[in-house]
Amino acid sequence: MNRIAVVPGSFDPVTLGHVDVIARAAHVFDEVHVLVVHNPDKSALLPLPKRVSLLERSLREAGLPPSVTVHSWSVGLLVDYCTEVGATVLVKGIRSQVDVAYETPMAIMNRSLAGVETVFMLPDPAHAHVSSSLVRQVAALGGDVAPYVPASVAEYLAAT
Ligand code: PNS
Repeated sequence: MNRIAVVPGSFDPVTLGHVDVIARAAHVFDEVHVLVVHNPDKSALLPLPKRVSLLERSLREAGLPPSVTVHSWSVGLLVDYCTEVGATVLVKGIRSQVDVAYETPMAIMNRSLAGVETVFMLPDPAHAHVSSSLVRQVAALGGDVAPYVPASVAEYLAAT
């Protein structure tokens, strides 16, 4: 049986914490769809196609296998995407109890909506303080984000 997992997120921008979780998912599942989701609750820094291209470059540079692919989803439920591609599992990275509290109702809702289970994965604690929102803030205030994001993201942010 081909186990397909979806790793969804805003990826605005992708961080080393995201790459870590995606690499762990690639070890567990046959196929991993990294899904850039438009989140209407958040105002984005990077347009969706730029987030996709930076993810593709970052995952290639990190040496992830071809079983990991990048996609985007801007209309409809996340579980609709899962049903469309035959994915039965969502993977979410958990940095703290705050993430557990935030993710739990969504996990139960996604299971209730479409029977899609959520697997929580723990990233390397070295990335526990890293989030896209803090990266955006540090970059906007002129700080160095290179320790927190893939090289291609750091280059892109430095140039914009
Ligand atoms: O990186 P983020 O911003 O924390 O990612 C959040 C995301 C995109 C995973 C979350 O907003 C999400 O799951 N959106 C899908 C919307 C949806 O299907 N909602 C209904 C069931 S919970």
